[in-house]
Amino acid sequence: MGSEQRVTAAGNEISDSFRAAKKRSNAIEAKLDANPGQFTMLTGDRPTGRLHLGHYFGSIKSRVEMQNRGVHTNIIIADYQVITDRDTTEHIRDNVLGMVLDYMAAGIDPSRTMIFTHSAVPSENQLMLPFLSLVTEAELHRNPTVKSEMEASGHALTGLLLTYPVHQACDILFCKANVVPIGKDNLPHVELTRTIARRFNERYASKDPVFPEPAAILSDAPEIPGLDGRKMSKSYGNSIMLGATAEETAKLIKKSPTDSERRITFDPVNRPQVSALLTTAGLVTGRDPAEIAEEIGDAGSGALKQYVTKSVNDFLAPHRERRAELARDMDSVRDVLADGNKRARAIAERTLDEVRSAMGMQY
Ligand code: TRP
Repeated sequence: MGSEQRVTAAGNEISDSFRAAKKRSNAIEAKLDANPGQFTMLTGDRPTGRLHLGHYFGSIKSRVEMQNRGVHTNIIIADYQVITDRDTTEHIRDNVLGMVLDYMAAGIDPSRTMIFTHSAVPSENQLMLPFLSLVTEAELHRNPTVKSEMEASGHALTGLLLTYPVHQACDILFCKANVVPIGKDNLPHVELTRTIARRFNERYASKDPVFPEPAAILSDAPEIPGLDGRKMSKSYGNSIMLGATAEETAKLIKKSPTDSERRITFDPVNRPQVSALLTTAGLVTGRDPAEIAEEIGDAGSGALKQYVTKSVNDFLAPHRERRAELARDMDSVRDVLADGNKRARAIAERTLDEVRSAMGMQY
């Protein structure tokens, strides 16, 4: 088989499993609407920095909606995942607390949504041992997201980077989540989680399954470009942070690159930078970006930037106000996390007990 053919075959494999996952995702969403209380959701973020507008529209908004519909909702702040592709935990405490602030400012209610971190829940981490025995090294090496993260990191593949998808299965399964909202890049991890749940049940608990096989929920939100039209990334400095000030946001938008054509048009392929600004304005106003372009027309990029700045700052003003209010009492924010961690520990201990007893390891 020529290498081109192999690539195509691999591509087909990926898109077949993507299609199957998308189908499952749509089916689950319909059921979720009918019966939210039957579902347990778990998802999370790596605390590598501050949350930005992409996080808000890509995931946080739908978490809040699920919480408000009555789904059992859980958010993990995945602190051990920070060291999968870097060798420092600098600023981790600030990043973790900043995330709790942004979740709450966005409408996450900690009395309904459990917020917790990996590092505070030992029994969750301990599931890693039996789970690792259920996967082969070859399966781990085949994970496309791990491969691209390894390449991007510029480091040798560490044991944690290779095995963190199994750890993510621990995140999902310790609380027996059956729905996992994620982006496409996390799909291989949820597929692996399904495999681990199935194999555990088959091997140790065929009469009385311990784990559900969770379904990924793939967001329909379009990917939000960074202000310069590239992928939103901390290292490009092209993202609007939820917790930034209005002045910082204005400055960032002002210095974002455009092109030399005066007339504003929405054309993501040929004019990625101008179009990224229009997409951003479209999201925060709920308007069609092409209509905004039409309206600005010959007034040029200065007028466009003014419009984007005002609409983003207007949209984020209530979030920022709530965030600042919450930040006045950081002790309470730490209490929220301590409480979430405590609840997660109780659940993890119960699940670990079930696992040990299914395996005959209760003495
Ligand atoms: N890998 C996810 C990310 O980088 C974060 C994460 C950790 C997660 N554990 C999870 C997502 C469990 C869903 C379920 O965005």
